[in-house]
Amino acid sequence: MRTLIVCLAIATGLSGSLALMGQQKQPPAKLTFTTKNGNVTFDHAAHVTREKGDCATCHPKLFMQDAKAPLNFKAGLHKTAEMNMTSCGACHHPSGPAFESKGNCAKCHMKG
Ligand code: HEC
Ligand code: HEC
Ligand code: HEC
Repeated sequence: MRTLIVCLAIATGLSGSLALMGQQKQPPAKLTFTTKNGNVTFDHAAHVTREKGDCATCHPKLFMQDAKAPLNFKAGLHKTAEMNMTSCGACHHPSGPAFESKGNCAKCHMKG
């Protein structure tokens, strides 16, 4: 148990977790979404860093702070969310700040 707590503290980044303690839930380092098209690993820490630590870019307007909540990104092979700039499509859309889905399936989906 003790080892587990130490590992978790290291994984989430000690300074970050201390700063956040008592304020809000711990941000995960990475989340894996299981899909029929191959699993998607979402590097939560890298996304937070790029947004300069601003949780409000994504929470709660784009996503719940709950890895079990639906992402609502899959409709119309991501075209719906890209067009409406919702979910991952808020940034991942044609000429957006992050790569669009077209031509970039393998950047997100890992085929086993
Ligand atoms: C670039 C977007 C983005 C930013 C910025 C972001 N998150 Fe998240 N976060 C997500 C996504 C996506 C999920 C998963 C939502 C889902 O599965 O429906 C998530 C899930 C979470 C969860 C739930 C983890 C679990 O295991 O259930 C927590 C807690 C969380 N975020 C905290 C934070 C905190 C704290 C910050 C700011 C330091 C932050 N997030 C910034 C996108 C973001
Ligand atoms: C707030 C904007 C934003 C949101 C929302 C967002 N991303 Fe990103 N994402 C970025 C940026 C910026 C990059 C880096 C630039 C690039 O590679 O085009 C990136 C890069 C990535 C990468 C490459 C690996 C990495 O992190 O550097 C993956 C995979 C990825 N995003 C998946 C997702 C998934 C899945 C979602 C929804 C659960 C999502 N992103 C939501 C902005 C976002
Ligand atoms: C920015 C990352 C990203 C890119 C790029 C991307 N996907 Fe996805 N894809 C996801 C995520 C995350 C999910 C889960 C979405 C949800 O649950 O709403 C998903 C779900 C899917 C599903 C639904 C599978 C199921 O389990 O029902 C299909 C099909 C799919 N993607 C196909 C594609 C194809 C084809 C491409 C390339 C044209 C692509 N994706 C590009 C992140 C991405």
